[in-house]
Amino acid sequence: MILADKLIRDHTLAGEEYAELLEAWEDREIRAKLSKEAVMLRKQYYGDKVFTRGLIEFTNYCKNNCYYCGIRCGNSNARRYRLSREEILDSCENGYGLGFRTFVLQGGEDPFYTDEILAELIREIKGRYSDCALTLSIGERSFESYRLFREAGADRYLLRHGTADETHYRKLHPENLSLANRKRCLYDLKALGYQVGAGFMVGSPGQTSRELAEDLQFLEALRPEMVGIGPFIPHHDTPFAEEKAGSVEQTLFLLSVIRILLPKVLLPATTALGTLDPQGREKGIMAGANVVMPNLSPVKNRKQYELYDNKICTGEEAAECRECLARRMESVGYRLVNERGDAAL
Ligand code: 5AD
Ligand code: FES
Repeated sequence: MILADKLIRDHTLAGEEYAELLEAWEDREIRAKLSKEAVMLRKQYYGDKVFTRGLIEFTNYCKNNCYYCGIRCGNSNARRYRLSREEILDSCENGYGLGFRTFVLQGGEDPFYTDEILAELIREIKGRYSDCALTLSIGERSFESYRLFREAGADRYLLRHGTADETHYRKLHPENLSLANRKRCLYDLKALGYQVGAGFMVGSPGQTSRELAEDLQFLEALRPEMVGIGPFIPHHDTPFAEEKAGSVEQTLFLLSVIRILLPKVLLPATTALGTLDPQGREKGIMAGANVVMPNLSPVKNRKQYELYDNKICTGEEAAECRECLARRMESVGYRLVNERGDAAL
């Protein structure tokens, strides 16, 4: 309990202290104490608002082969797709009509989308919807590419660091990927003036409190505007098919800790959390999260963007998902708002 109090007082802990605090995630009382503080902080900056992002999963081609991910290039069972320019723009139009004021273009690392194609798409979307924020989530690229996208009008960039621990990173990724480059990307994006989102999976195979402590310290150093975390969920066509999923409670615990570390952070209650627990997203909001990210992609492709098994909302139209989420948020005393949802000043 002492460490939880210290975190609440100082908004930071030393590395060993994080690890020790994280060992206590199964303790209900500590979870309750942290989530109470987290909710107090999110209310202070965001009231009862929940921001929403329209997610457009525009390609499931990926040149990488991360061991946890269902759309890894080595998965020959994945049915690959790319949305056309028109389908992407239609998704935005549909989303705008539903009240979305942030669009997230998310995809695997797909070389088909050259810098030029993407920059043109960004310009087109920002030209049509100048009152909306545009977020990219398309993986590792060069400083020069990031600069081009920024100049074309992109406002935000999501790039989960995955894990900040070198040894653990090697257990999750093949040789050709490096944590150093991942971190380089995040710092480049910051330098270019993007609002940046980092993050990690909770309960990835072999992860301990020590690795999670490093993730928290990395977040403290980077100070991202957004943090995406969700439980690891095995995918049947990956090397981690037989590994066990992360824990909902541990994810909730971490959401509260992150809210206390970075009080103004934009923190989604993720789809992975909603997949492991039917009330997962509501619980995420009640643990300190303040963002939800429903899917705007065409229903015909939804199931194909399968990073993990049993992903929810793959049969739903965008309008149904939005209404469903609005009801869910209201059921726990919050409201979904039609705003860009930038971080509080
Ligand atoms: N379970 C949970 N999250 C996953 N991601 C990828 N695969 C899985 C999985 N099996 C998340 C990772 C990655 C992002 C693209 O999606 O955090 O960074
Ligand atoms: Fe998609 Fe409930 S949020 S159906």
